[in-house]
Amino acid sequence: MAISATVAEALNNGHPRNNVPDSVKAKVGMELHNREGHPLWTIKRAIADSFAGLPPGEGGIPRPEFRLFDKEEPVVTVKQNFDDLLAPADHVMRRPSDTFYVDEDRLLRCHTSAHQTEKLRAGERAFLVAADCFRRDEVDSTHYPVFHQMEGLRVFGEGDFPEGVSGDPEDPETVAYVSRDLQGCLSGMASSLFGEGARCRWNDDYFPFTDPSFELEIWNGGDWMELLGCGVVHRDIMASCGLGGRVGWAFGIGLERVAMARFGIPDIRLFWTEDDRFHSQFDGTLASSFKPYSKYPPCHKDVAFWVPDGLHPNDVFETVREVAGDLVESVELLDAFTHPETARESTCYRVNYRSMDRSLTNEEVDALQMQVRERLVGRLGVELR
Ligand code: PHE
Repeated sequence: MAISATVAEALNNGHPRNNVPDSVKAKVGMELHNREGHPLWTIKRAIADSFAGLPPGEGGIPRPEFRLFDKEEPVVTVKQNFDDLLAPADHVMRRPSDTFYVDEDRLLRCHTSAHQTEKLRAGERAFLVAADCFRRDEVDSTHYPVFHQMEGLRVFGEGDFPEGVSGDPEDPETVAYVSRDLQGCLSGMASSLFGEGARCRWNDDYFPFTDPSFELEIWNGGDWMELLGCGVVHRDIMASCGLGGRVGWAFGIGLERVAMARFGIPDIRLFWTEDDRFHSQFDGTLASSFKPYSKYPPCHKDVAFWVPDGLHPNDVFETVREVAGDLVESVELLDAFTHPETARESTCYRVNYRSMDRSLTNEEVDALQMQVRERLVGRLGVELR
């Protein structure tokens, strides 16, 4: 699970566009999805098994074998992650406030879709890609700068259509057929993850790289939870991969979200703990369920400051993570206002500290908060209030 020389070189290149902080660099190459017995590994396996055991589709037409890729390098090109997937030039995820870049042309993939076109061009026609993904984001129990996804993609060939379905991507019957096949495979996957009785619902969605696009929600803990995004691969993507005139579908699912719902894991930081009280509760099967071993007391500290031009909330969140690591549970915006005379903007954030593994001392939290304040001033140029 060591990182390659190319990735190490990219992460540490000192390039002015490189915005990967040390805490994230340290997690590149950890590949939790490849650690046997880890809950994310278990979910990856369960999804791959579900695809390996797919029944034939409509009219008894067999479905293909899906090849699993789970060792793709995390540094990809802007072309792979965005351009090839038709992401518009002004797409929010292209901004350095949302994505980790290593230079002008390369970044840490923000979704497994980054591997779609390279696999298609290499001739793959039915595949799954499990990998770690990276995004600058909020700090709370469901967001972490490193998370895991599984992509799936199927290209249809001539023999894959029943009588009366042409296979022509311009034909609405064909698009409807491919959409039904997609939803059939994914409903099957949802049942294998959450049980036959799991309640599912499909909604229309939008992604630049699929048309039509859908989301699958499942009923979990008294509410609908978004499980995945999917759709019929955009015709321009098929054409750019030498597959003009053919159709396919794709989906992407977040592994943490599935594992949290399936096993009852309350906080995303737990995936990264080395504590045996966590890992001993998982046996590599979907039957595991997690009982929190202890809940340690929280402690919060507020910080208020004048916002300098160009500061993004993600810069603040990352600063706290850089100092406190996994001791920060969440960062909440408490208050924001614009000064009526100077038009300066002020914000106040509450930093909630709590360890997953032990009690924190007051002195320890005070020292962390002091460092957070110093870094906000020193690195982000804020003026504390
Ligand atoms: N890449 C999308 C995401 O991260 C999910 C997706 C994959 C949607 C494939 C459609 C097709 O949200």
